Amino acid sequence: MRFSLLEKFAAAVLAALWLVWGSHTIGEALLHVDDSLVNAALAAVTAERSEATGTTGESADEGGALAMLASVDAERGKKVFNKCKACHTPGRGAAHRIGPNLWDVVGRVKGGAEGFKFSASLSGLGGEWSYEALNAFLTKPKDFAPGNKMTFPGLKKAGDRAAVIVYLRSLSDSPSPLP
Ligand code: HEC
Repeated sequence: MRFSLLEKFAAAVLAALWLVWGSHTIGEALLHVDDSLVNAALAAVTAERSEATGTTGESADEGGALAMLASVDAERGKKVFNKCKACHTPGRGAAHRIGPNLWDVVGRVKGGAEGFKFSASLSGLGGEWSYEALNAFLTKPKDFAPGNKMTFPGLKKAGDRAAVIVYLRSLSDSPSPLP
């Protein structure tokens, strides 16, 4: 049987399309597997750690972000902070905006920035901004402090949270030791 030129051409196009589609799907499948493996590993480590220390809630390593603090790229944190800049200044002694100035926020009393009028929700939290508390708050502010007035949905990616927390840590003359 002989194929016409047109038929050969059509077959070649189909084959090419199939290849492109196929490699795309396979690539995605690989990425997906990779992602869920990483998440599973992180979840296992987190569970083990909170079991070992008997901690729950705020002190659990939400999404494994705290485990990444030592290795995360500081430049990434600066980029993530672009999402916060509309409301927060990072510099020492800089003015409050819609949100409080964040110089030296790690280890500061929650809702304790001087001269900023916090909601009762935030100032009623008590305790200091530990890495754990920041991680939990930045995951979903409205779950961590219901009724607070930071209108920001949160950072879904643990890597983004880790990066921005490392950046917040750098806003100090004597940054707190990493966990
Ligand atoms: C739309 C404005 C807005 C954005 C965007 C925003 N915040 Fe806020 N943030 C606020 C406000 C307002 C408060 C005070 C909330 C309250 O009193 O209820 C706050 C509070 C905070 C606090 C508590 C400070 C303290 O002294 O207790 C931290 C930490 C914080 N924000 C970090 C961030 C980070 C990090 C980002 C970016 C990932 C971010 N915020 C994005 C408005 C914002």
